[in-house]
Amino acid sequence: MPTTLLTGSASGIGAATKAALEAQGHRVIGVDLRNADICGDLSTAAGRQAVVQAALEQTQGRLDGLVLCAGLGAQVQPASKAVSVNYFGVVDLLDGLLPALQKGQQPAAVVVSSVASAQLAWDKNPLAAALAAGDEAQAGAIVDGAGERGGNLAYAGSKNAVTVAVRQRAKAWGQAGVRLNTVAPGAVETPLLQAGLQDARFAEAIKNFVAPLGRRAEPAEIAATVAFLMGPQASFVHGTQLFVDGGMDAMVRPTQF
Ligand SMILES: NC(=O)c1ccc[n+]([C@@H]2O[C@H](COP(=O)([O-])OP(=O)(O)OC[C@H]3O[C@@H](n4cnc5c(N)ncnc54)[C@H](O)[C@@H]3O)[C@@H](O)[C@H]2O)c1
Repeated sequence: MPTTLLTGSASGIGAATKAALEAQGHRVIGVDLRNADICGDLSTAAGRQAVVQAALEQTQGRLDGLVLCAGLGAQVQPASKAVSVNYFGVVDLLDGLLPALQKGQQPAAVVVSSVASAQLAWDKNPLAAALAAGDEAQAGAIVDGAGERGGNLAYAGSKNAVTVAVRQRAKAWGQAGVRLNTVAPGAVETPLLQAGLQDARFAEAIKNFVAPLGRRAEPAEIAATVAFLMGPQASFVHGTQLFVDGGMDAMVRPTQF
């Protein structure tokens, strides 16, 4: 039975993905702030270190799968918290758990990024230099100092950076025998989306963000894609980003891919 660690397991896409992987026979170890096998806070370096340590203890240092779903939306204040969870909560776990994945059976990892990752180009991402340098305080200061734009910058900037971070690891992870991909959802019916809809600063933009398929996704539709990427049918899929967005990215950026 493959053992898979999954962050954000208590809600939304993470909870749906936990169910999908369990249906495929995985033992899933859930990580979240509460209601999880490992309760921990991915918004701080100490919290992330404690989660990695607990994961290694619970798995005797050997993992077959890693799914990183935990994330915060643009409405969260301070905006720096979204950068910490969405970016550092991914790269610290990827790097901390690669040795355990290398010992696994047909190991694979999936990071849940966002269609927002493609709204910014890396060379125009105001957070790029700070994040590439691993400077959490500097990246946080940029978004917390950006006023009204801070939330969107934190979200799109951290999601762009996390997709880049995965692509930058493709060579080393491939050579280590561990497949690594991102999924980029469009709008999905989850508590995170509802929180955005209830915030006057973001409600209009979310309502107007309608994909060509004319609806939002259910969490299970994202979970099914993650489960595919984690399984043997995706055995040559590596270093890529799979949009699960009802056609949104193709509509907005038809000539860029
Ligand atoms: N819902 C959407 O429309 C949408 C679209 C694109 C991408 N995403 C991404 O999908 C992922 C899952 O989001 P969701 O919509 O299911 O949201 P959600 O709020 O339902 O679930 C997110 C989970 O992450 C956990 N989490 C937040 N901060 C944490 C922390 N500091 N430490 C540990 N866990 C923490 C929460 O407790 C929650 O259980 C996120 O990365 C989000 O950015 C969502």
